[in-house]
Amino acid sequence: MAAEGPAARRVQVAEHPRLLKLKDMFYSKFGSMPKFYARAPGRVNIIGEHIDYCGYSVLPMAVEQDMLIAVEPVQTHTLQLANTNPLYPDFSTSANNIDIDKTKPLWHNYFLCGFKGIQEHFGLNKLTGMNCLVDGNIPPGSGLSSSSALVCCAGLVTLTVLGQKLSKVELAEICAKSERYIGTEGGGMDQSISFLAEEGTAKLIEFSPLRATDVKLPSGAVFVIANSCVEMNKAATSHFNIRVMECRLAAKLLAKYKGLQWDKVLRLEEVQASLGIGLEEMLLVTEDALHSEPYSPKEICRCLGISLEELRTQILSPNTQDVLTFKLYQRAKHVYSEAARVYQFKKICEEVPDNMVQLLGDLMNQSHTSCRDLYECSCPELDQLVDICRKFGAQGSRLTGAGWGGCTVSIVPAEKLPSFLANVQEAYYQRSSPREAPEKQNLFATKPGGGALVFLEA
Ligand code: GLA
Repeated sequence: MAAEGPAARRVQVAEHPRLLKLKDMFYSKFGSMPKFYARAPGRVNIIGEHIDYCGYSVLPMAVEQDMLIAVEPVQTHTLQLANTNPLYPDFSTSANNIDIDKTKPLWHNYFLCGFKGIQEHFGLNKLTGMNCLVDGNIPPGSGLSSSSALVCCAGLVTLTVLGQKLSKVELAEICAKSERYIGTEGGGMDQSISFLAEEGTAKLIEFSPLRATDVKLPSGAVFVIANSCVEMNKAATSHFNIRVMECRLAAKLLAKYKGLQWDKVLRLEEVQASLGIGLEEMLLVTEDALHSEPYSPKEICRCLGISLEELRTQILSPNTQDVLTFKLYQRAKHVYSEAARVYQFKKICEEVPDNMVQLLGDLMNQSHTSCRDLYECSCPELDQLVDICRKFGAQGSRLTGAGWGGCTVSIVPAEKLPSFLANVQEAYYQRSSPREAPEKQNLFATKPGGGALVFLEA
């Protein structure tokens, strides 16, 4: 991969209504003009859920919805943030003293993650200030990665203000790491696709080392996103981190069972790599080594030969230290089987068999079942929405993103799209109690969009 950074594009702001509106609002807010704009897109994950932080490849594409920020560097060392959405209050802080409160996932903290990540990368402690006006159109808490898009956009803004250069891969890695300042132990999928996306193609994102490979989606089908309208913020609850920890513990127990040096192992993929066996075989090892009843912290300590104190302070994250049961067998089974589905999905896209759409749909359906039953990251509304989508013509439908709410993604044969949209609209959004999200954002077909960019006024 070329090690170039995100592109800077010259645009006539007057020809872009959203930029023009943002420029006007910026002027009303700060009494000056922005010097540049940056955008970073959200994403929809087509397949490969909850496996990035286990070291496995995922298959997302960027969506058109994004975070857009108008920026003016200032000499005062003050960082002033405003948002076009009145729900998100203004925020201001000294650029030299960034404090991120993990207890409240407030909107500006995501900006601060990207800002701090870049600042630390260059070892700077005296940063120039800036005025920023943020305009996002990714529905929040919907599993389309609005939070990572803001972290990435803030990272790109900071890099641009500093006049420094980094490759897209470096930016993605820094932003993935710095989003953890908010307290969630996410993998790197969202930040990677936000920077590495290219219009017209989904990407296989591989980790260690991070790289992205084009995956050409079938021409006869459309990917449709539907919002369950159940909002989920993964930083506000411990669901997400509990899953990360369950996978970490499963990896350690599997490694110990196989006589590997388990204390350094953090990811399920590392166990497979050390054993040098395939994913099918890893599923068999999981059957042998783990039991399906939940594990208590005591039992885990007994298996690993460590104290409860060591488990809490050296292995678990701060917000999972009091968890009473861990389901290791189910989580490991999900991860190894989902990792295999990602490779199968990519292979089908390359081989283009006649029944391609059906085969891809089957994999997406299996993924949802696994997320629902083994990973337990669905919710009744998502299950209902997936059923409705399948009933009205989707070949496959699954939750996308972290889950516990948010969106589904469905693969729909192109000729069925109009009736699919009309029927799902009626069955999910109108028939029962009218769902709340603004109609336009509820249900829409999407195409692979481009990655993060800087816009300069021509
Ligand atoms: C969130 C995380 C990602 C990934 C998904 C689940 O979006 O930020 O890293 O783990 O959940 O696939």
